[in-house]
Amino acid sequence: MEFAQKVGLEYGKIANSELSNFEIGITMEFWPPGFFNFRLSNLAIAEQLDRAARGEHLFFAKAADPKTVVIDFSSPNVAKPMHVGHIRSTILGDSLARTLRLLGHRVITDNHIGDWGTQFGMLLVGWKKHLDRNALDRDALGEMERLYKLVGAASRSDEKVLDAARLELVKLQNGDGENLKIWREMIMLSERQFDKIYSRLGVKFDHSLGESFYNPRLKPLVEELLAKGIARESEGAIAIFFDDIPQLKAHPALIRKSDGGFNYTTTDLATLAFRLETWRPDEIIYVTDGRQQLHFQQVFAAFRKWQERRAPSRLVDSPLPNRAEPVLGAPKLAHVWFGSILGEDGKPFKTRSGETVKLADLLDEAEERAFKIVSEKNPDLPELQRRDIARVVGIGAVKYADLLPNRQSDYIFSWDKMLALNGNTAPYLQYAYTRIQSIFRKQNSESRIQNPELKLVAPEEIVLAKLLLNFGLTLEAVAEEYRPNFLCNYLYELAGKFTAFYENCPVLKADAATRVSRLALCDLTARVLKQGLDVLGIETVEQM
Ligand code: ARG
Repeated sequence: MEFAQKVGLEYGKIANSELSNFEIGITMEFWPPGFFNFRLSNLAIAEQLDRAARGEHLFFAKAADPKTVVIDFSSPNVAKPMHVGHIRSTILGDSLARTLRLLGHRVITDNHIGDWGTQFGMLLVGWKKHLDRNALDRDALGEMERLYKLVGAASRSDEKVLDAARLELVKLQNGDGENLKIWREMIMLSERQFDKIYSRLGVKFDHSLGESFYNPRLKPLVEELLAKGIARESEGAIAIFFDDIPQLKAHPALIRKSDGGFNYTTTDLATLAFRLETWRPDEIIYVTDGRQQLHFQQVFAAFRKWQERRAPSRLVDSPLPNRAEPVLGAPKLAHVWFGSILGEDGKPFKTRSGETVKLADLLDEAEERAFKIVSEKNPDLPELQRRDIARVVGIGAVKYADLLPNRQSDYIFSWDKMLALNGNTAPYLQYAYTRIQSIFRKQNSESRIQNPELKLVAPEEIVLAKLLLNFGLTLEAVAEEYRPNFLCNYLYELAGKFTAFYENCPVLKADAATRVSRLALCDLTARVLKQGLDVLGIETVEQM
């Protein structure tokens, strides 16, 4: 230490000041022959915590240059129950929306429901011939799925069924009154059931513009792409070729089939154009499983070609004034993809009888299992309260298990792991939060002090305080890389550092000044835990 020459820059700005608006004191030490040693001064850290305790910030700053971001997520298909695969898109998309909103961006969420396509041919045949109205009333999606499977199986052995399905589809596409009416009913019943799940998950959408919304735009879009030489005919169909993009060279995007029907890509291009005109976003994020990677590469590449020739002056200029550099080729398009959910045997997650797991059943089971655990721990709480805790814990556990792994890897679904009170789980974090709340319940006289002065002395206090300062950087990283798992790991570490602090630093038994300081540290930790869980879409309770 004697050679250390203190350059001492108290209250300098943290090097990466763009990422954090906080003035942080740093000391820089110079160790000959050539090492610099940066240290945050404890005083400066304490001052940041004082400001947070006064409610001036919670360790993150709103974006100085807010972006408009459209997030396309969940997007289930009509007439099919949402299954466990849809949960990842829903939960991941929702947590990204929450993070970006917290950071001050303008977020527009759009549920791109699959409400159009060739499946309606079979569904219409099934509806007209085999519909069981009672079953439809009980479980509309289950009944529609049954009809689809029934007609699908029949069509494989009987050409005539397939022809009938084609006929019904053409009638629907041509605006046949009866078919349109049935189709609308199918959508209405499906959405009603989707909404039940969304409300259990606490997920809301600003818009639910399904694929059918874009139907009137498909024909003119293909014509425009043809006229501009971006698409061309090939064997009776129309496609966009990517000869200039090596990885897409062998994968032209079909935008009109030889029978005149349009493709998934056509709809996505029309959707993109609509979103651009309507919301002028800086960024559009699509959350789907990894199997759609090629599709989105094609959509993005096709769109770039189209955009170059569309209205360059409007699209190339940034819609926002005062930007440091012009945004060439805005908006940013991101395909945020994820892997599969596997059963404990490492194979795709199925029920015992081999069916795909329906999301509604999965959530029921989560709540039921959590109820057992809560009841064992707290047999004396009234049942209603135990049910409510079980809902928060059960749903939270499922969400967290989904957000914690690197999204691009598959993960193994395990009830025991996700509901464990020890380990990197939602219940563990929710429990850590309730433990802090119980400290405040124990000391009733001087609850939360308005203007506490924090003194950071014990090493555990300093470690905890420094970690609190990292909350904002973590949120930024989640938004930047679309990875809520960064936040999961941060919160887990925070809960761990809090435990170390609480085990080594007496709070309620400390002298008055220390008690005030440590209580403030407890309170700030609880607030960051609650805010962090909220951004993940996970609720907290005061007691569990
Ligand atoms: N409905 C599709 C599916 O269930 C997902 C749609 C994703 N969004 C989009 N714009 N293509 O696979």
